[in-house]
Formats: sequence, C-alpha cells, structure tokens
Amino acid sequence: MSRQLLITSALPYANGPLHFGHLLEHVQTDIWVRVNKLLENDCTYVCASDAHGTPVMLKAEDEGIEPEELIKKITKDHKKSLEGFYISHDNYHTTHSEENKKYSELIFSRADKKGLILKKTIEQLFDESKGLFLSDRYVQGTCPSCGSENQYGDNCESCGAKYEATELKNPISTFSGQTPSIKESEHLFFDLSLLEKEISKWIKDTNLQTAVKNKLKEWFDEGLRPWDISRDKPYFGFNIPGYEDKYFYVWLDAPIGYIASLDNFLTNSASNITAEDIWNKNSDVDIYHFIGKDILNFHTLFWPALLDAGDLKKPKNVFVHGFMTLNGKKMSKSKDNFLLIQDYLNLLEPDYMRYFLATKLSNGIDDLDLDLLDFQKKVNTDLVGKFINIASRSQGFLKQFDNKTSSALDEDLLNLFAFKKEEIFNHYQDRNYSKALKEVMSLADQANQYVDKNEPWILNKDSKNKDEVHKIASTALNLFRILNLYLEPVIPQTSATIKRYLRCEDTIQNIDNFLRDFEINTFSPLITRIEDDDINKLIEACKNG
Ligand code: 2FM
Ligand code: ZN
Repeated sequence: MSRQLLITSALPYANGPLHFGHLLEHVQTDIWVRVNKLLENDCTYVCASDAHGTPVMLKAEDEGIEPEELIKKITKDHKKSLEGFYISHDNYHTTHSEENKKYSELIFSRADKKGLILKKTIEQLFDESKGLFLSDRYVQGTCPSCGSENQYGDNCESCGAKYEATELKNPISTFSGQTPSIKESEHLFFDLSLLEKEISKWIKDTNLQTAVKNKLKEWFDEGLRPWDISRDKPYFGFNIPGYEDKYFYVWLDAPIGYIASLDNFLTNSASNITAEDIWNKNSDVDIYHFIGKDILNFHTLFWPALLDAGDLKKPKNVFVHGFMTLNGKKMSKSKDNFLLIQDYLNLLEPDYMRYFLATKLSNGIDDLDLDLLDFQKKVNTDLVGKFINIASRSQGFLKQFDNKTSSALDEDLLNLFAFKKEEIFNHYQDRNYSKALKEVMSLADQANQYVDKNEPWILNKDSKNKDEVHKIASTALNLFRILNLYLEPVIPQTSATIKRYLRCEDTIQNIDNFLRDFEINTFSPLITRIEDDDINKLIEACKNG
C-alpha cells in the first residue's frame, strides 16, 4: 500500500554559498526521495533557507544591504546549486516568511499557555562599541579549566571543558578586540524538563540509529534544562509577540521552517489541505528529517518537544549522517581544503559525484571521505568501465540489425537480474546505498562476463551465427536497461539520457517488460571518463574554495 511521506533536508543558513557538506546531505535525501517515489509512495520533499540570526544580520551589514535582500540573493544561489545537482525539492522556501511567522507564533503561544515558557534574567557578555550581546562564537578567551588561550565562549577545544562565556578569563570580543562588559537581560526559556516524559516516549517509540540513542541517553543522564529561546535586539528574526525588542532565537523558528515550507507549497499548489493538517497528531503522513550529527540535539530533543508543546505530530524518524572530509582532512576554508558545490558544477557532471557519494553512504553516522583520486577511479571503473561498457558492447553488434533487438533473449539471466529488484531497493530504503550499489555493480560484472563468455565477436565472423549474435547483443542491452533502472535514483540525469537512447520510459515498476523486437536509437557516448586534468582542476578549486 502506498505511504504518505514528508521528507526534509536541514535548512542551509543564508549567509554564504553551499559547500560539499550540504551536498552530501541533499544527495542522501534526494536518493531516498527518488527511491520512495519509484516505489510509488506519495512523497513531498521540502527545504528552505535558514534566514535568521546574527551571522546573517552581520553579513548583510558587511555587504551594505538589508538582510531581506541578502536572503533573496543567497536563496536564489542555493537553489541554483541544488537544482544543478538534480536535487528534487518540491519546494524551497525561506524561514523569513509569513508562513513561518504564523507557525512560530502558534507553537510559542501554545507552549506559553501550557506553562512551558519561563522568564529568567541572565548575564551575558556585551560589546559596548558594537552594541551587541556576544554569542559564544563571537568571544574568545582563556579556558577557565585548563588555561588554554583563544578558546570560544562555550567549550574548550583543548580540554573539552564546557562553561558559560562569562566564565572565560580575559574575554575579548572578536568584533572590536575589546574586553566586553557583563550585562543583564531577561530571556525567555522553553522548559524542556517539563516534557521529559513526552520526549522519552518519542525516543522509545522511534527507530532512531543506535549512535543517536546513545547520545540522547547521555543528555538525559545530564538532565534536561530550560532552553533559551529569546535574543535581544539587534537581531534579525521574528519579534516575540508581547515582548518588545525580543526575538525568537534562530533555532526556535528554523525547524518550524519545515512546516512553513510545506504550507507555502500547499498554498501554491492550490491544495485544500494545510501544513497543519499534515502535522496534525492524527495525520497519516510520516515525517522524516535528514540531518548531520552536529544538529542532533535540535532535532531529537528541542524539536519533538516544541511539536509536543504545539500539539503537533512528531517525526517518524530523524536520519543522521556523519561529516564529510575532503582528501582525508577536515573541510576547512582557511586550510585550502574546501569545495563549493558551484565550483564542482563548473567542471564536471553532477551524476559522477552523486554516484561516488552514494557508494560511500550507509545508514550510520560515520564520517565519509571524498578523496578526489578515489572519486575518479570509482567513476571510471564502475560507471564507465562496467555499466556503460555493456551498452557500447551490445550496440556494436545491434547496428547490423538496424538497432533492433531480437525476439529471442536469454530469459533466465534477465529474470535473475529483475529478481534482484527487491534486495536492491530494500538496501536503498534502509539508506544503505553503498550496499545497493555493490549489488548493482556485481550484476554489471555478470553482464560483462555474459558477453565475454559468449564471444559474439568470434561468432559474428560466420553469418550462420547471426541469430545467436543478435540474441547475445539484445540480452546484454536488456541487462543494461535493468541496471539503468536500478541506478535511476542515484544518477537521474544519465538514467534519463539512457532511457531516451533506449526509447523506453519504464521504471522499476515495469522492470519485466524486456525489449523484444524493439528499435532503439543510434548509440552516442552516454558518459565519458573523468580525465586527470578534470581532477587537477577540482584540486585547484578546493584551494580557492
Ligand atoms: O546547522 C545548520 O546549518 C542549520 N541552518 C540547520 C537548520 S535545520 C532546521 F532545523 F531548520
Ligand atoms: Zn580547557
């Protein structure tokens, strides 16, 4: 029976171009969306720009423009990069929207009515010359625990100690280089501790990854504390109703942006259901979020708690992935080891990278390395050397039959290939893309071995073997067609080109419709090898990232 799914990728901040860390997550999500669509589930995939917060405000200030203008420009640029990689969002919105304001206020007021909002006066570091309260990333000082210098305001990279920014010794504002003052301000807190039972139940009922459950257990053991959800002006965000000069903290309205993006999508598609219907506790839609492990607490503690407070449905699951390293090292702009999505798109075909990332992706939270030489080798060996090779080999013979397949085929082998559908798509469904692709490449090996073993180039020397040659070439071409259907969620553009070449728009739903007595188009190279020069250019792009 067809399922209804709402799928999201984390909302990228609208303060700079998208890099390969974003790409990894969007490719992982997009493959899953495509797999589910191919399995005829009713899926909607939404995303948006995460538009609020101090970094966006400061970036706009730097550029001498209003934040609204910056967001528009960056959102457009993000969309272009993601569309370039064939990421198939149904909607890409922004958290700085009417819809998001509406849902943020709704959830806040429901939480407030339930007594979940507390007020507390806190002390914070304040940069007098800039007129700004300093969040942890804008203050540096000496660790109060081990004495390491140049540590940020929340924890020490050297000894791992956690502390309040006000506890740092010799704090310095990264804006002015001056010593900040300590200023009091009243903040609003969302009291997570009151929802401990509800969050625990959600965790227990949800099939979260083991590593995620373990992390959550650590947080629960430390005890859930009220979460600071307000920020003082100047801040770019939504004003909190009833509180002049106070704004919702960006992480309060960011996940609500998932609901807002869906709402915007439904309104634009003239649907008579609203996002609130979908997020209703009794709705039949299963909600899945794809995120990186750095934002786990926001999605598996705060978000389910906010949804509970707002009487809304919690996610069916939150799928967490690890970080991406580049050439064995942490991605870092300052260390010349950084790759922007757009820089890649200027050089190479997106499907190559989609394939490579998919061969590295499992359903765990381990980090994944993008080694550019490994990337070149993998694509050339698998996609060009094994997969496309099957088409080139069979086409060489089919030419002499006017590009028409025979009526006789090696049915057993074709059935064996088609029979693998369930296993391969189960791996995809489990987000074990690496396993799915291993299976597909092992079938590609078998298809090549089938041609090798039958030696059509020798049979072809004698015209009495004509039918046999036709059958071998046609079978190989049909095997290629099946493999193409298996690769479709991973390399959608290449797959579509191949379908045009085969003149056949099948999907895995009609995998058994083998092409008999069927005229295909004339072969033209479907994809080409990645050359050393391409990789050298990519290596250069990583240095300029
Ligand atoms: O970590 C980030 O990049 C955030 N912008 C992700 C937000 S995801 C969601 F909650 F909005
Ligand atoms: Zn320390």
